[in-house]
Amino acid sequence: MAFKLSFTTLLMAGLAAHAQTPAALKDVFKGYFHVGAALNQAQFEDRDARGGIIVRTQFDTISPENVLKWESVHPRPDAYAFDAPDKYVAFGEKNHMFIVGHTLVWHSQVPAWVFQNAKGEPLDRDGLLQRLHDHIRTVVGRYKGRIGGWDVVNEALNEDGTMRQTPWLKIIGEDYLLKAFEYAHEADPKAELYYNDYSVENQAKRNGAVELIKKLKAGGAAVTAIGLQGHDKMEWPTIEQQDATILAFQQLGIKVNITELDVDVLPAASQQRTADVGLSVEAHAKLNPYAGGLPDTVQQALARRYGDLFAVFCKYRGTVSRVTFWGVTDGDSWLNNWPVRGRTSYPLLFDRQGQPKPAFQAVIRAARQGSVK
Ligand code: XIL
Repeated sequence: MAFKLSFTTLLMAGLAAHAQTPAALKDVFKGYFHVGAALNQAQFEDRDARGGIIVRTQFDTISPENVLKWESVHPRPDAYAFDAPDKYVAFGEKNHMFIVGHTLVWHSQVPAWVFQNAKGEPLDRDGLLQRLHDHIRTVVGRYKGRIGGWDVVNEALNEDGTMRQTPWLKIIGEDYLLKAFEYAHEADPKAELYYNDYSVENQAKRNGAVELIKKLKAGGAAVTAIGLQGHDKMEWPTIEQQDATILAFQQLGIKVNITELDVDVLPAASQQRTADVGLSVEAHAKLNPYAGGLPDTVQQALARRYGDLFAVFCKYRGTVSRVTFWGVTDGDSWLNNWPVRGRTSYPLLFDRQGQPKPAFQAVIRAARQGSVK
């Protein structure tokens, strides 16, 4: 307890030193949107005291980094692993947070058996629909009224806006999305339901996503929002692309959530501008230039970049309902190990010691400037 108290004091002093007045993102953005973070298991199990304090003081919504993905929550046909997700949900409730579920249908982090029958042969459409229905009824049903919103389908589109050839699409056909939304709505009629993807800021993929949302709505799906993952770079998306993307979905009458925000300052590891978790690139010293620390010029550029992005999010208050960072501190970020293992990445608002970075102050300033418009 003594440790906890003194740590809080230190954290608040750290915030104060940077901002004069201690600021909490969730308070500063009240009236704009919820601000949140994806939590790893140590954070929601209270094994990461420093991370836990940041989460509790800064954020009012949480997402599960891994524990609700199919391979984690439903590893074998007859086995569900609810221990970790139960703790995740309890953490959110205890701290009065909006709790997100991620994710019901995806082609990654899903076991091979999902698409096979008992003999290891490909499952047919009815068999897979039945399995999907059972999974969604069981998982969404368990947290009915507690998890407020679900990423129902993650990453169904290719870069050119066509449908990604996943086992879901190949076995069930294009209506797998409609079915997933139908099953989720049936399991918890009050939960918000989302379609989530990356690189939607690019014109071709955005057009595909607009068509997809239109089709879902025409088919009667209860789509609340599109999730823009927001795995951003320093130069991408441009502010114009970010703005046009939010506007495109606002015009469809749905909300926009920024669901996995981080800004990568490291050199591009591949020509592909993607957030595809399947990408893997060999380590090379040139790809890890800031292992000893981030130069101030880059730190300041990152702060400006965050300020610019948040200015757009603030402009679309009322449409943007939530901005969630994919991790709490730089040390937690998946970008330390993707697409290259073992890099030192700086994509978030809190550094490896849990101290707010200049980017944190830039984000706070964006809120204050936005509110006087
Ligand atoms: C990432 C997690 O952060 C990693 O821990 C895991 O090893 C791979 O997945 N898009 C998504 C997230 O929708 O689920 C991914 O999360 C990051 C990219």
